[in-house]
Amino acid sequence: MGSPNGAERGKIPVHVAVIMDGNGRWAKKRLMPRSAGHRAGMKRMLRLAEHAFASGVRILTLYALSAENFNRPREELQGLFSLFREYFSQNADKLAEKGIALRVIGDLSLLPEDIARLIAESQRKAADGRAGTLVFAIGYGARQEILRAVNRAVTGGKPLTEGEFSALLDTAGLPDPDLLIRTGKECRLSNFLLFQCAYTELYFSDKLFPDFSERDFESALNAYKSRERRFGRTE
Ligand code: IPE
Ligand code: IPE
Ligand code: MG
Repeated sequence: MGSPNGAERGKIPVHVAVIMDGNGRWAKKRLMPRSAGHRAGMKRMLRLAEHAFASGVRILTLYALSAENFNRPREELQGLFSLFREYFSQNADKLAEKGIALRVIGDLSLLPEDIARLIAESQRKAADGRAGTLVFAIGYGARQEILRAVNRAVTGGKPLTEGEFSALLDTAGLPDPDLLIRTGKECRLSNFLLFQCAYTELYFSDKLFPDFSERDFESALNAYKSRERRFGRTE
């Protein structure tokens, strides 16, 4: 939603978003194919997700594939699609057992149909979020998301409040991220959650995603604790 969710100094962030970047460079350094970097990234992601919820984070949003990533070579995309098939078929039941709701944001029509179906089925299975919510951004682009919302609004035909507009975004119902982590040295948003991150604390790590450990995640949480969030006010 469009309003700050009241996280204060010294607190665990309610919602953490992560741009999982650096898989390709991780593989290149080891003279391995990029697909090996993506596999290592998936292993790392599984561990970090577990750790994040155990640390008290309630919502974890992971940028797994951008709309622009569809311009990558077919072979790399096929490898990523295989990992998505593997992940969703092996993990939906586990998430459901743990009480973690699964949600996917982005344009799923960009994906092969069997994956879009698998994702829909996984979201139905893991719908109970009493222990947390895990959000994957797949085929996601923030500008595209904003345009989708604007087009929904135009169809509705009347001026909207910020809250009403937020409810038209892919992230409807989720609070804005408190903390955004980007691994892999780059200091940019790459079309991720542009509307929702208006007041999000940003944390950039030089570590390539497959090397980003639980300790590194804790360092990001600690950095967040020492930030003072003002939302435009004086204190
Ligand atoms: C992030 O790693 C994963 C995806 C974008 C799918 P990259 O594949 O972008 O890795 P680098 O940035 O080339 O190292
Ligand atoms: C951002 O990484 C997208 C994901 C991590 C899924 P990219 O590697 O696509 O970003 P750029 O191209 O370096 O900006
Ligand atoms: Mg990259």
